[in-house]
Amino acid sequence: MSISYDPKRKTLTLATKNTTYQMGVGPVGHLLHLYYGRRAEGSFGHLYPPHDCGFSPNPYELRDERGWSPDTMPQEYSGSDTGDFRLPCLEIAAEDGVRGADLRYVRHEIRPGKYGLPGLPASFDREGEAETLAVTLSDPAAGVEVELLYGVFAARDVITRAARIVNVSTRAVRLEKAASMCLDIPFGTWDLLHFHGRHTMERQPERTCLSHGVQSVGSRRGASSHQHDPFVILCGRDAAEDAGECYGLMSVYSGSFETDVELDQMNALRAVAGIRHDGFSWTLEPGEAFFTPEVILSFTDGGFTALSHTYHRFLRRNICRSPWTERPRPILLNSWEAAYFDFDADKLLSIARGAKALGAELFVLDDGWFGVRNSDSSGLGDWFANEKKLPGGLAPLIREMGRLGLRFGLWVEPEMVSEDSELYRAHPDWALTVPGRKPVLGREQLVLDLSRPEVADWLYDTIAGLLTDYDISYIKWDMNRSLTDLYSRGLPPDRQGEVGHRYMLGLYGVLERLTASFPHVLFEGCAGGGGRFDAGMLAYFPQIWCSDNTDPIARLAIQHGTSFGYPMSAVSAHVSASPNHQTGRTTPLGTRGLAAMGGGFGYELDPGALTPEEAEEIRRQIARCREYGDIVLTGDLYRLTVPGKGPFTAWQTVSEDGARSILCAVVTEPAGNPLPMHVRLKGLDPAGRYAVTDLDVFGSRETGAWLPEEEYTGAALMYGGVTLPSLKGDYPSAALYLERRD
Ligand code: GLA
Repeated sequence: MSISYDPKRKTLTLATKNTTYQMGVGPVGHLLHLYYGRRAEGSFGHLYPPHDCGFSPNPYELRDERGWSPDTMPQEYSGSDTGDFRLPCLEIAAEDGVRGADLRYVRHEIRPGKYGLPGLPASFDREGEAETLAVTLSDPAAGVEVELLYGVFAARDVITRAARIVNVSTRAVRLEKAASMCLDIPFGTWDLLHFHGRHTMERQPERTCLSHGVQSVGSRRGASSHQHDPFVILCGRDAAEDAGECYGLMSVYSGSFETDVELDQMNALRAVAGIRHDGFSWTLEPGEAFFTPEVILSFTDGGFTALSHTYHRFLRRNICRSPWTERPRPILLNSWEAAYFDFDADKLLSIARGAKALGAELFVLDDGWFGVRNSDSSGLGDWFANEKKLPGGLAPLIREMGRLGLRFGLWVEPEMVSEDSELYRAHPDWALTVPGRKPVLGREQLVLDLSRPEVADWLYDTIAGLLTDYDISYIKWDMNRSLTDLYSRGLPPDRQGEVGHRYMLGLYGVLERLTASFPHVLFEGCAGGGGRFDAGMLAYFPQIWCSDNTDPIARLAIQHGTSFGYPMSAVSAHVSASPNHQTGRTTPLGTRGLAAMGGGFGYELDPGALTPEEAEEIRRQIARCREYGDIVLTGDLYRLTVPGKGPFTAWQTVSEDGARSILCAVVTEPAGNPLPMHVRLKGLDPAGRYAVTDLDVFGSRETGAWLPEEEYTGAALMYGGVTLPSLKGDYPSAALYLERRD
């Protein structure tokens, strides 16, 4: 049993393989957070002796006990305006004017299996591996009950949290904030590691010492955003890759979110995560319930690598539902950087012939194939082929692709509408705009109001129609602007605060139906690259275009940051032409091939422009991807260096059984008199004997033979390491393949 109740002490304990999480019912019913950390039996109430901290008030029932205040005790789900002045989870305004929330324990229930969240993506239980704890708290004055939901995945060291908020009164209640969870960490000194960025430079790690006050990570953009990722790590000040205490908090949500962290007067930490509360409100009529999105929690004292591995495995097994998740993906060629908007059927077929000759299996037709779409100013919404470019529509083109032996994939951006489109002319009211105000434009386009069921239905029917009428095996689902003008003609004035979240529910509903109806289709998520790279999207899409930046050196940094929370199986990465279209940098093709070894591997260039040597190198890359791709897809990733710190970046993937591994190193700062590159390998079997093959060296090698032996023990490779030769030139790289000899 991973969930237990001690009636004497009134404690509820969640146990996973390596962690313990404990809560207890306080003297007047507050649900207190007693402990989350390394596995330890026993009770933890003794950690919180009475302490009278001036100006921290007392519940009425405890007016004689000034040592007890909700303001100083760690809470499981903080109320508001009722004595706890730290970050609240719940803010309400009832129709009769009652505000605030004073939540007290009523009951709890332990259920087999994992709870679900209607309308929202959430983790799922595969083989009876999870249990659910539901704890009901209530505030009779506010007329609400809050059911706190805990999913315990004992073997995975994961605890998920969400809340169900019910209006149990006879009048309406407006939620002004409804967080998913609160995690109080009463003791210790903590840093916040979060992942910020911008378009084409997503998920750059930043580690900050927490100081008193609130640090907020989040998005107001209607998408999880390029600017902040909904995954953060709270780590001990001495935490590093291989050691140290780390808590991970990952929101399973793709819209505006907030993860706020507060260091309070007692030097205690509180993290509150969920839907962004400014701009949000939600009215519950009597009897109605609201479900918050889920947050995935994990703790380790083994450092960032151990935490990352927990999330990688959990996302692959318990979040991603696509049958493609751990299956080798077709190697593709995408038309975007090869042709942009400038193509016709002949040009596409010539690119496709070249792709086939290189060994690609799938041709992806990117933007520009539909409506009147010769630039990004028009056509969104008109999801039928542009017959000027594609005479006879998509069918003859797909037929020709089939004759070439290529599967066919299509780009769509279905959440959007251009003012210059048939769809907008027919339904101007379907776009999110505020009456009387010119809407804000992004890439000259507007956003469809997916909070309206009829718009969401149209969207489902349109994409389902394409997938039914044509032999399409892959969809790249793009989204190229942030949400503004959140006003829906489908909702009354007093419910406009619901539009942002209802948009997400509309979108999730469409994705749920599409992925269920067309399970064979490989869906790739995209939002101008990685602007919506989150666990919510991964519930539907097994892979996401990680960034519009295809420069391999920049990509190493982006993929490094991404890897803290997300597995390589989720990362779509392509080899593009050099000089790179985003940065102008020139890099060798071999280095581009190594940097693009993600779950979704492919090319984004015109094969007609390649030299015979380059074409040969690409054939080798594709063969290598077929042979070793499974290690990247299902193995463990080790970050051996930090991109930008030091002259080279090295990383290693190891199959889950430790038998096969690839080491990659890229010189990111070519220097005079370059030194040999030394790294210690990780994740190998110390006693195993590994055959080491020099997979590839791209760039001139300064030294001669450098692997005198053919076989090394795992211990020698991990504790002694490997010294790669010094390499000269523009961003050279090297890769080794290791295989255990049984
Ligand atoms: C976005 C995507 C790109 C490409 C373009 C097409 O920017 O991230 O990969 O599909 O749109 O307009």
